[in-house]
Amino acid sequence: MNVNGIPQRTIWTSADNTAVEIIDQTRLPHEFVTLRLNTMRDAERAIRDMQVRGAPLIGVTAAYGVALSMRHHASDAALKATCDMLLAARPTAVNLRWGIERMRAVLAPLTMEQRAAAAWSEAALIAEEDVAINQAIGQHGCALIREIHQRKNTMVNILTHCNAGWLATVDWGTALAPIYAAVEADIPLHVWVDETRPRNQGASLTAWELGQHGVAHTVIVDNAGGHLMQHGKVDMVIVGCDRVTARGDVCNKIGTYLKALAAHDNGVPFYVALPTPTIDWTLQDGVQEIPIEERAAIEVTHISGLADDGKIHTVRVTPVGSAVANYGFDVTPARLVTALITERGVVYQPNELNMRALLAD
Ligand code: MRU
Repeated sequence: MNVNGIPQRTIWTSADNTAVEIIDQTRLPHEFVTLRLNTMRDAERAIRDMQVRGAPLIGVTAAYGVALSMRHHASDAALKATCDMLLAARPTAVNLRWGIERMRAVLAPLTMEQRAAAAWSEAALIAEEDVAINQAIGQHGCALIREIHQRKNTMVNILTHCNAGWLATVDWGTALAPIYAAVEADIPLHVWVDETRPRNQGASLTAWELGQHGVAHTVIVDNAGGHLMQHGKVDMVIVGCDRVTARGDVCNKIGTYLKALAAHDNGVPFYVALPTPTIDWTLQDGVQEIPIEERAAIEVTHISGLADDGKIHTVRVTPVGSAVANYGFDVTPARLVTALITERGVVYQPNELNMRALLAD
């Protein structure tokens, strides 16, 4: 996708092919800064500190982290230590485990001498596949938006939560890919962007990338969605996700569940866009089984933004001494999900049978 009209990905290999470069997403929307990751520890830190974030991009960055490590230490012990360290960077997005396990499966049978080159190619392949997957999600999701447009014959209003756009993947995004495809197909639409406290991925990232593409959007506070749905101002919800269980429970950014409840109560279709590596076939009950990341209290007690002096300032919003809880994700039960939009197609009434049937095709 574009930044100031110039095509840009979220992660790419350096010109000398010895490192990986990323956009530092903690600096957006006020500063566009790129960073060089030279080592596996740089990659691990970038994931942990959310310089890269979003489930698919976390998976790709971890794959490159393995590749960076193999350049220096390619023994079995080093491979295991690298995988263990990267796996611990963030707990909820299953794409992290998926990316690392795919690297391990390719590298483990090889000799030490073969591993560095093979790891670099495999990480690049995973990145390219992510782009193709997201484009396909875009086409399947675009058909759903078109259906609504044909029925209404006016602007389609779509609500999204957090950032599941191109910044959360290598390119195109998951939840926003159908929106970009629909805009390319000249379907008139407008996006309601949940701000997504505490880290404001909606207000700072989704709003920024939609703005870069000239997509009409309005930022709303996280609690506004229910009101908008009651007043017929939302035609569909599309969100991304960090993990989907075998029975179709969906884990995504904290607050997603409340949007699904409001959508259900108001008869608004609730879609979840995902690449199939986001399905965790080892789990069933998402509420009980998916590990939910808890992050530092400072993300809740403080907020950062651009001040009138042109500098980024951080200020406290809670009283000193108040206890704080900071859960990063929640789980939406499958019964509240209208359909999953995957690169293979759309799965209505997500459950194990319907999801496996899609993959079998
Ligand atoms: O904490 P984040 O910013 O990594 O959370 C991101 C999300 O919740 C996204 O919706 C999800 O990873 C899907 S990204 C295509």
